[in-house]
Amino acid sequence: DESLYGCIHTHGMAFTLQERQILGIHGLLPPKVETQDTQAMRFQNNLKKMTDPLEKYIYLMGIQERNERLFYRVLMEDIEELMPIVYTPTVGLACTQYGHIFRRPKGLFISIRDRGHVRSILDNWPESNVAAVVVTDGERILGLGDLGVYGMGIPVGKLCLYTACAGIRPERCLPVVIDVGTDNETLLHDPLYMGLYQKRDRSQAYDDLIDEFMEAVVEKYGQDTLIQFEDFGNHNAFRFLRKYREKYCTFNDDIQGTASVALAGLLAAQRAVGKPITEHRVLFLGAGEAALGIANLIVMAMTESGVSQDEAQNKIWMYDKYGLLVKVSNCQCEAFVHDSPGDVQSFLDAVNTIKPTAIIGVAGAGRLFTHDVIKAMGTLNERPIIFALSNPTNKAECTAEDAYKLTDGRCLFASGSPFGPVTLSDGRVLTPGQGNNAYIFPGVALAVIVSGVRHISDTVFLEAQLTDKELAEGRLYPPLSNIREVSVQMAVKVMEYVYAKGMAFRYPEPLDKNGFVRATVWNTQYDSFLPDTYDWPGVNFSPKTKSE
Ligand SMILES: *[C@@H]1O[C@H](CO)[C@@H](O)[C@H](O)[C@H]1NC(C)=O
Repeated sequence: DESLYGCIHTHGMAFTLQERQILGIHGLLPPKVETQDTQAMRFQNNLKKMTDPLEKYIYLMGIQERNERLFYRVLMEDIEELMPIVYTPTVGLACTQYGHIFRRPKGLFISIRDRGHVRSILDNWPESNVAAVVVTDGERILGLGDLGVYGMGIPVGKLCLYTACAGIRPERCLPVVIDVGTDNETLLHDPLYMGLYQKRDRSQAYDDLIDEFMEAVVEKYGQDTLIQFEDFGNHNAFRFLRKYREKYCTFNDDIQGTASVALAGLLAAQRAVGKPITEHRVLFLGAGEAALGIANLIVMAMTESGVSQDEAQNKIWMYDKYGLLVKVSNCQCEAFVHDSPGDVQSFLDAVNTIKPTAIIGVAGAGRLFTHDVIKAMGTLNERPIIFALSNPTNKAECTAEDAYKLTDGRCLFASGSPFGPVTLSDGRVLTPGQGNNAYIFPGVALAVIVSGVRHISDTVFLEAQLTDKELAEGRLYPPLSNIREVSVQMAVKVMEYVYAKGMAFRYPEPLDKNGFVRATVWNTQYDSFLPDTYDWPGVNFSPKTKSE
């Protein structure tokens, strides 16, 4: 039967003889008792044989369903290789084919037809101690567009990173898709699609459903339940963030996480350049929500260093498809609209006129940091800062190779999607920084959960900065392989901040926050059902695993 079968898999052959007898599964497994090391070796060997990322994704997700601890162990041991499978970019591909590669349901599905009954659906979820919810309505899945309920892969993948990167217990994480229909014609004609066959409901009913959902979550799991919005359409993402941020413990990773990781890169770059943040001039390519989020956080960082808000805003310029934002522009980003600095016909003109120390690309419109733009930055600055943050790789404003080669390796480069190391003609090898949100959101989430925070202010994201000794060596971001440690240290820092500011509600306040966080994080060792373990007699398996 299904439950017995499921039970066999939770530890698989790592069940001891006594455990097998007590559970009544003796004989249903091969007689050998395996260590998790051996299981991990088998898992890793199988992964190595696969070349197709989607095949790896399906295999990994299967292990997650059967043996969660083994899954997280392998994921954490090889996070650099496997994060791009479990999360972007492969998860995006998996979402586009969700109904086709479907094996078993994961997460909670709430549709617009369920209005009035959201709480009872939530009550069907088997876990009673949820601390973090990631919710999407599937309208803007990564750069892929409207995938409707096929978007479930995103909350599932995101929460995997909560656990892998920050040790948040998997049963405390709840992935949710809100189905209000889809405007994607392909899906509306896909016989394997799994959501409602209707156009997106954009009426009041949609807002009511989200309201009801928010209320039901805190009613069931408590006021300090973290609710992360993910991959909503831009308009709704901002609207909901504004609407709910004071009432719920919520944040939007696409807006706040992205801003925070961009600022972290900028602060690291500024340390490498040896010039305080207040002396930088930043020109954005793109004036949308991402640009605004980053710009506002830069202003906060500058004002913390002592300049006035006006002065800080005057150091930030934005250039979008209509040109440089100057007094005549008509946009919502008034703070960053300035007097016209002269005749600016192109982004290159803007660079030459404004003379920025940093350019940040968030336009999602392809290679707009042209060779001339990069060269101009190299002429204007000893160490130009060039961030090409648009995703995926083919939307990045320039490649790492162009940025480094056209500035003789002087620039500080970061991108949203990963680029490999670049070898210069003089033999130097430069490793570009990847502004991956995974540096930020798991650590912030961990701090928020353990401190009982009710509202997450932007200052929390200002506080969430990367501390890593390797940053001192001119790297903009730590290696992903350190992410557990980076997240834990960030959580400690954020915790200190939220307690100091009276934003934490979990009492008594832990005095040794570092020790507290480290004792909280989940690890992947099997909980033994019994005190002693049974060794397979006479055989000494000591497989070499990657961790050794
Ligand atoms: C529609 O869905 C298909 C299949 O999932 C996906 O490949 C495509 O990108 C989507 N298109 C839009 C415009 O959202």
